[in-house]
Amino acid sequence: MLSQRRILLAVTGGIAVYKSLELLRLLKKQGAEVRVVMTQAATAFVQLLSFQALSGHAVHCELLDTEVEHAMGHIELARWADVFVIAPATANTLAKMAHGLADDLVSTLYLAANCPVYIAPAMNHVMWNHPATQANVKILQNHGINLISPESGEQACGEIGVGRMAEPETVCQRLISDLTMPQSLANLNVVITAGATREPLDPVRYLTNRSSGKMGYALALAAQKAGANVTLISGVTQLKPPANCNFVQVETAEQMHAAVFENIENCDIFIGTAAVADYRPVVCGGEKIKKNADQLTLTLQKNPDILADVAALKTPPFTVGFAAETNDLEHYARDKLTRKNLNMIAANWVGRAEGGFERDENALDVFWQDGKKTLPMTNKTELACQLITLIAERFDAKTKI
Ligand code: PMT
Repeated sequence: MLSQRRILLAVTGGIAVYKSLELLRLLKKQGAEVRVVMTQAATAFVQLLSFQALSGHAVHCELLDTEVEHAMGHIELARWADVFVIAPATANTLAKMAHGLADDLVSTLYLAANCPVYIAPAMNHVMWNHPATQANVKILQNHGINLISPESGEQACGEIGVGRMAEPETVCQRLISDLTMPQSLANLNVVITAGATREPLDPVRYLTNRSSGKMGYALALAAQKAGANVTLISGVTQLKPPANCNFVQVETAEQMHAAVFENIENCDIFIGTAAVADYRPVVCGGEKIKKNADQLTLTLQKNPDILADVAALKTPPFTVGFAAETNDLEHYARDKLTRKNLNMIAANWVGRAEGGFERDENALDVFWQDGKKTLPMTNKTELACQLITLIAERFDAKTKI
């Protein structure tokens, strides 16, 4: 059920607008309070009055409407919402959102909203597959929006391909499962590390790795959905941190170590998703290294092991590590589990065609002392929810001993 949820539904102009009427009906049936905004183009497909009648509230489509601003202006509307759903989302609206344009009510609301945002795109399959649209969707995912992927099938234009808006039942189900995720971590303090560290060689160069931060940021969001107070300690990424989390930006492994220990008091669960550089250059000069010699030898110093140090605390939190492996996954993961004295380890393959670094999808083999669970390949958002559920189960099992 979505009772008490305040959903702001933005409807943009495409033939799939008719599906939004059904979506509105389903959301209301689930007990949500829904307010609707439309673009001018959307009103060419379905009358504003239809949404007004179904929602029971005035529907607006103008940004500069003095009457509306007097009643519930766009900032107030953005603050009112628990969740902002844009369905259907056209290629044009996605492009405006991705690039920060605010020339109509919907795009302005997107910039003003600080709640979770969902998009259900709908367009011709060639438009959907166009590199410009795909790049815009990637940008939006990096902003932290939740994509409800378009489906494949016959389109209004008669062509066949991926681009149809997800069915209203699918959109509604996704919102129910995300917004009503069991509060299995309610009021627990969770500290998560994410992304890659950068180890400077000189003022312009650094050693780093391929971690994008996607897995760690997805875990931060999933832990929040499960009711946790989240501290996200992150290397430099292109991602937008989840709203309302305690976000700490770092660059090097030593800074990440310091930030973790500044935030570890009262931490119930620690999750080390970051790809921390194992070594750093011993010397980082103030001047750019010159390329005078044919060979250059770097002397590296081992970095502190953040995960092992957390697990070695006198009263450690429930400590979950990650293992990124190219071979003998279970062997190396279990070795880390034992050697670093962890409660759990989530192992993933890296360097393969699917999953691991940078990609939107991943799979995990999760190990604990006397157990194992495989979480098959899926998008990192969904995978993170599954891992958080498993962590909550193991945390409960441990605290009940
Ligand atoms: O960020 P993405 O692009 O989404 O990619 C996700 C991921 C592949 C980076 C992620 O799923 C993952 O596997 N993270 C761990 C990467 C890693 O460094 O693995 P490792 O096997 O080298 O390290 C083992 C564990 O020790 C990790 O929990 C790591 O955070 C921790 N560690 C390692 C070294 C160190 N000095 N301090 C640490 O805390």
